[in-house]
Amino acid sequence: MSIAPRPPIPELIPDGAPFTIEQRTWLNGFFAGLLSLDGSGIKPLSPAESAALMPALPGMTASPGDGDDGEATWHDQTLPLNERMKLAEGRPLRRRMMAAMAQQDCGQCGYNCQDYSEALFSKKEARLNLCVPGGKETARMLKSLAQELDSAASVATTPATTVADATAAPAAAPGCSRDNPAEAAFLSRTRLNKPGSAKETWHIELDLSRGGIAYTVGDAFGIFPTNDPALAAAVIAALGAPADFPIGGRTLREVLIDGVSLGPAPDMLFQLFSYITGGDRRQKAKALAAGEDPDGDAATLDVLAAIQKFSGVRPDPEAFIEALDPLQPRLYSIASSPKVDASRLALTVDTVRYKIGSRARLGVASTFLADRIETGDTLKVYVQKAHAFALPADPAVPIIMIGPGTGVAPFRAFLHERMATKAPGRNWLFFGHQRSNYDFFYEDELAGMKAARVLTRLTLAWSRDGDQKIYVQDRMREVGRDLWAWIAEGAHVYVCGDAKHMAKDVERALIDVVASYGVRSVNEAVAFVADLKKSGRYQQDVY
Ligand SMILES: Cc1cc2nc3c(=O)[nH]c(=O)nc-3n(C[C@H](O)[C@H](O)[C@H](O)COP(=O)(O)OP(=O)(O)OC[C@H]3O[C@@H](n4cnc5c(N)ncnc54)[C@H](O)[C@@H]3O)c2cc1C
Ligand SMILES: NC(=O)c1ccc[n+]([C@@H]2O[C@H](COP(=O)([O-])OP(=O)(O)OC[C@H]3O[C@@H](n4cnc5c(N)ncnc54)[C@H](OP(=O)(O)O)[C@@H]3O)[C@@H](O)[C@H]2O)c1
Repeated sequence: MSIAPRPPIPELIPDGAPFTIEQRTWLNGFFAGLLSLDGSGIKPLSPAESAALMPALPGMTASPGDGDDGEATWHDQTLPLNERMKLAEGRPLRRRMMAAMAQQDCGQCGYNCQDYSEALFSKKEARLNLCVPGGKETARMLKSLAQELDSAASVATTPATTVADATAAPAAAPGCSRDNPAEAAFLSRTRLNKPGSAKETWHIELDLSRGGIAYTVGDAFGIFPTNDPALAAAVIAALGAPADFPIGGRTLREVLIDGVSLGPAPDMLFQLFSYITGGDRRQKAKALAAGEDPDGDAATLDVLAAIQKFSGVRPDPEAFIEALDPLQPRLYSIASSPKVDASRLALTVDTVRYKIGSRARLGVASTFLADRIETGDTLKVYVQKAHAFALPADPAVPIIMIGPGTGVAPFRAFLHERMATKAPGRNWLFFGHQRSNYDFFYEDELAGMKAARVLTRLTLAWSRDGDQKIYVQDRMREVGRDLWAWIAEGAHVYVCGDAKHMAKDVERALIDVVASYGVRSVNEAVAFVADLKKSGRYQQDVY
């Protein structure tokens, strides 16, 4: 017996109607079914009729426009969360979820900001605490939006199957995603600053030969770190629990070293404390769990400091572990090219160390790479493919690279690649750091590349050599005429490094250069730089 093919679902919802593809598909199916029942025939809905439907759909409000035009005004990593949420006010829930992300598209969560919010909205992803740069603030906002989503879902049923199918990703090979990492071996670390520097930055080399990992210059590399065993021991002592307390077939000590984050104390931990303490301490724990700051010290409370604040608190070790966040991998821009040696990968890692009170606080991954891992040790890793950060397809196209500090990492990779492939395009690097005598990363190598005419031009900015801070953007303005000439000749512009300040300031400088030397009004220069971005000629890798 043959089965007749199902007729295609008619397009009843007009293209311009403010629905996502998934919602449109569901609505088309829904109305096709409804209209064929009463036999009155099929007629597309008017935009007004479509708009009237909006409040009935999960996550939607009656505001005009669904914001799917890619011009999300909150997509700016320099805006604080409350401002981003204000800009997204009245927008559909999935867009507000997007606004809650840190807007860096950094890939640490395994998605970009848009895809993470879509995955949460479609319930394909349940973890609300994956946005590393957004931290607790983003996690809290996502929690409240997820509650809104759940109550909307109980009013109207989400077309979950369509959404899940549309976003389902094929299973990745080992080393291609944070969910399926591969193994690499640690080869070496070499200090990039000279003794006397205020910074501690390492050139790290890893051996990829056992994992079969492939990457492209511009990609980032994910590292699964482990916590400092001394910190884990201090937590165990503060809890007054046995280090070998069994937790899911492992010991408490093991789980504290590689399973959970000992960074900022999560709300859940304070919630747990509020259940097992009394009086004033309970009120404080409750307030901290709600994101309040009763004693003005909330920002300093990592897991150990939180236990110490509620000294004497004795949670059940299993409940304690349950209340902590999972230990997340960290990303680093790849500083090598597989065209030089596909089995060897390099990173440029700034070590995070600071003090709060009398206790030294250590960045987990950066000190794992700087202090704890030894040559020959293996670590879990994966490649985070760049979304839009790559050399031009045409090797003859000139490139301008702006990368202060560790921002130089991907540009070392670009230069190595262009050297290995004998790309004829010109290469201009802007590098800056604190002091020329101490913080000139890869100085000899860059000099060699200059001598070999691979590095056409090197412009340096030292912020602490003199009385006045000189930053890369100051140098860009100084050499604006030449910069404009390169851009007018089709150069691609790349920026890497600090997302909060540097990236914005560099963009501002580029706008000024375009206005001054490209003879344009400021508005025209802003539009010109926006067009560079849209056409892929202005690319950023910022964190
Ligand atoms: C795409 C991408 C590429 C990246 N590339 C690089 C790279 O090439 N090189 C590089 O070094 N990093 C890079 N990073 C940053 C890197 O992923 C880590 O965030 C960084 O190494 C810190 O991680 P950690 O685990 O050592 O520190 P964590 O344990 O995560 O601690 C860092 C946190 O400590 C706090 N903190 C730091 N300093 C202070 C202070 N002085 N006072 C108070 N609190 C403080 C801040 O809250 C900070 O977020 C990149 C990030 C992304 C997303
Ligand atoms: N998440 C993390 O924990 C983490 C870890 C590592 C790096 N980062 C981020 O990544 C950035 C890179 O760190 P890094 O150690 O490589 O270098 P960095 O600390 O950013 O310093 C590099 C150079 O950039 C200068 N600079 C400061 N503000 C600037 C601005 N607005 N515009 C242009 N240049 C500016 C610095 O000058 P002065 O310092 O003298 O002002 C220094 O000369 C950090 O700024 C940080 O935001 C974050």
